[in-house]
Amino acid sequence: MRTAIITGASSGMGREMALAIDQKIRQIEELWLLGRREERLRELANSLSRKCRVICLDLCSATAIRDFEELLKAKNPEIVFLVNAAGFGRMGRISALSLEEQLAMLDINCRALTALCRICLPYMAEKSRIINFASAAAFLPQPGFAVYAAGKSYVLSFSRALNAETRNAGCHVTAVCPGPVRTEFLDLAGKIPSYKRFFIADAKKVVRKALKDSLEGKDVSVYGLGMNLFYMITKIIPHGAILLLFRKR
Ligand SMILES: NC(=O)c1ccc[n+]([C@@H]2O[C@H](COP(=O)([O-])OP(=O)(O)OC[C@H]3O[C@@H](n4cnc5c(N)ncnc54)[C@H](OP(=O)(O)O)[C@@H]3O)[C@@H](O)[C@H]2O)c1
Repeated sequence: MRTAIITGASSGMGREMALAIDQKIRQIEELWLLGRREERLRELANSLSRKCRVICLDLCSATAIRDFEELLKAKNPEIVFLVNAAGFGRMGRISALSLEEQLAMLDINCRALTALCRICLPYMAEKSRIINFASAAAFLPQPGFAVYAAGKSYVLSFSRALNAETRNAGCHVTAVCPGPVRTEFLDLAGKIPSYKRFFIADAKKVVRKALKDSLEGKDVSVYGLGMNLFYMITKIIPHGAILLLFRKR
């Protein structure tokens, strides 16, 4: 069964990705929708045109990951798309956020994403795509969002390396690096700095570009002029100098 597996499908960009794949990718026969909120997933499944499998799990749980691996073994899907969109971010200084919150961010944003890539790899179809949600926060260390930004740098680096390892076998990996996007993520993240509000993007548009970039085999997808400029600047100007500028704000 040609399958798309989508984590974080209960909300925001994961949900939008499920809708976009359902609308645009004809070859998909089944979508696996992953998240903790079952009702949301069932609602989404009812609105899609393909067969759906709702999988309620907490991706931070090692047992849940092992159970998911067993499900893969039992169903032996031909995975055409793996989308890792589950994640969250909490703003605040390292000393102000609890240790639990910071480790939970790393668990979902980095560990779960790595585990999903690893356990799905044996089932990836010959021409397949992995879409990993990183963030523009990956481009530069971010005081006040340190653990989240460092975790997303990991996702960007990991995805590009995985892409280099798998693309010859026909599996392309794209790291999606949006700036702020209007989703529940922003409600949970805490008060975002006012200059970031200027760059808030629409989830549908970010996802549309991410899917297009993935189909074109790009290893990084950045939506919008502002974030592309930011990406370029962080490649040219030493990070120490940019961080000084932020400190002076
Ligand atoms: N929105 C932004 O400004 C922004 C910017 C850059 C990058 N990103 C990244 O883009 C990705 C998608 O974010 P979004 O904006 O779509 O956020 P969102 O609307 O808050 O969605 C996050 C999704 O992650 C799932 N999730 C969280 N913890 C989970 C866990 N322990 N187990 C299983 N699922 C879990 C949630 O589902 P349940 O609660 O149902 O489990 C939800 O479906 C994230 O990786 C985020 O870091 C977001």
